[in-house]
Amino acid sequence: MQSAVLPPEFQRMFARMFDDAPQDDWKAVEAVIRKDFGKSVEEVFGVSFTGKEGYGVMERKARASASVAQVHWARLPDGREVAVKIQKPEIAKQIASDLWTFKTVTWILSKQFDLPLYTLVPFISERIELETDFLSEAKNSQTMRQLVNSESRLKGRVYIPTVYSDLTTKRVLTTEWIEGIRLWDKTAMTSRWLGGRGKGSPGAGSPLPPIDMDIARRQLRTEAHREKIKPERQEWKGLHGRGGLGLGTKEVMTTMVDLFSAQIFKWGVVHCDPHPGNIFIRRLPNGRAELVLIDHGLYVYMTPTFRHQYARFWKALMTFDNRAIADVTGQWGIKAADLFASATLMKPYEGGENVMQKDLKELKGLTRAEKHYVMQRKMKQGIRDILADEDKWPKELIFIGRNMRIVQGNNQFLGSPVNRIKMMGEWASRSLYEDPNLPWIQRMNNVWRHVIFKSVMTVTDIAFYFFKLRQLLGLGGGMEDEMEHRVKKMTQYGLEETPDLFEG
Ligand SMILES: Nc1ncnc2c1ncn2[C@@H]1O[C@H](COP(=O)(O)OP(=O)(O)O)[C@@H](O)[C@H]1O
Ligand SMILES: [Mg+2]
Repeated sequence: MQSAVLPPEFQRMFARMFDDAPQDDWKAVEAVIRKDFGKSVEEVFGVSFTGKEGYGVMERKARASASVAQVHWARLPDGREVAVKIQKPEIAKQIASDLWTFKTVTWILSKQFDLPLYTLVPFISERIELETDFLSEAKNSQTMRQLVNSESRLKGRVYIPTVYSDLTTKRVLTTEWIEGIRLWDKTAMTSRWLGGRGKGSPGAGSPLPPIDMDIARRQLRTEAHREKIKPERQEWKGLHGRGGLGLGTKEVMTTMVDLFSAQIFKWGVVHCDPHPGNIFIRRLPNGRAELVLIDHGLYVYMTPTFRHQYARFWKALMTFDNRAIADVTGQWGIKAADLFASATLMKPYEGGENVMQKDLKELKGLTRAEKHYVMQRKMKQGIRDILADEDKWPKELIFIGRNMRIVQGNNQFLGSPVNRIKMMGEWASRSLYEDPNLPWIQRMNNVWRHVIFKSVMTVTDIAFYFFKLRQLLGLGGGMEDEMEHRVKKMTQYGLEETPDLFEG
């Protein structure tokens, strides 16, 4: 996901890990199901592998295989199509040993360089361990489904698949099957819609068309087709398969930023793995885009106080309100407010005193080795200053930062069609006066501030369209590209003449 920092070979290899990783064979899957349910696959799902009447069917080859699980398609006897996510048997052990390594390495780094990193270990480990508990994933997923369905701004734009709890255990998660285009398939998303007027892509806005069981059973009996029983449902792509969902990247991206902003600023329930492998896009019959979010294993829950602080902090960043920034970061035990502001925006924060300029001056006239030394010292001090007070520091920030970095990557991947920073700022500001937990007077006050905020935001819009225009004229990248470029420069400044540092 941090593809920009990796060589292309690595990027290609890691891209496969989203859903094309090596899969375990059927025997292993059967064993997991038997262990968790105490029954055979046939008994649990009511399927038959010989095509018996009155039974459902299931594919023995996984449709996808990712980091912790692989996913098989099945059709239950009552006609429901489901995705059965089976945890890879070796994964719990693997994660335990990886976390041990992580713990050890972090401990050594903390001691060696005197950095307060070790305090983050328990929280990170706990979140990652929870990814192997599908009961927790089912709960996250149901919570998110409810939140989305009760949010008028997202209703009909975002969909969270139903979880079938009676078919779910710690290592087996059964959810509604989704047909959709993956976010990374930009061509299929944007190509012309050939599926007919007033129609949507399969499953969008209406249930999937029922499966012809005679054909399914025939597939099951033919050696060549045993692996793939599910109909491909590609008719909407037209005769030559060249059609697409006919959607705009801007609409898709707007929905995505709205969704994750609502999670962060309004609900405080955050999906921390929003990478393209976990997002499907469908086309609704009315021609609009619908985003389907899956894989709810990695979540953080923010307390109302922290969520409120975070919204205040984010809004303050947008309006260069340094007093509010200092106030919030102070409560979090952060000494380097400016540095933290830049880390949050993923671009140099320009409202404070310009530390970067000062540092650059300091580096003038030094030899390469000296520069390297000064930079290392500064970076370490920066980390120390951000994590200054271990007890106050909200560990959730790590995963929220991760969420934002991935959404930024998605925006960049689609060509930066939206001004993400501004949209998030608006959500932050709005959440402050809509929050029913705040006293009435404060909410009124926040309404007034929101008005001021909106006018300030017009300025970032101008910046956004400036970059857009530049991009259109072929003179550079969009705003997200520019921001990434500047962050890279910021993290490398002083080192740019020593590129070999980043090799090998
Ligand atoms: N409900 C579903 N419908 C269709 N495909 C799914 C569904 N759930 C998961 N998949 C496929 O399986 C892959 C892995 O599932 P995911 O929940 O992301 O597992 P992991 O936690 O291992 O990343 C997804 O990237 C997707 O391709
Ligand atoms: Mg996934």
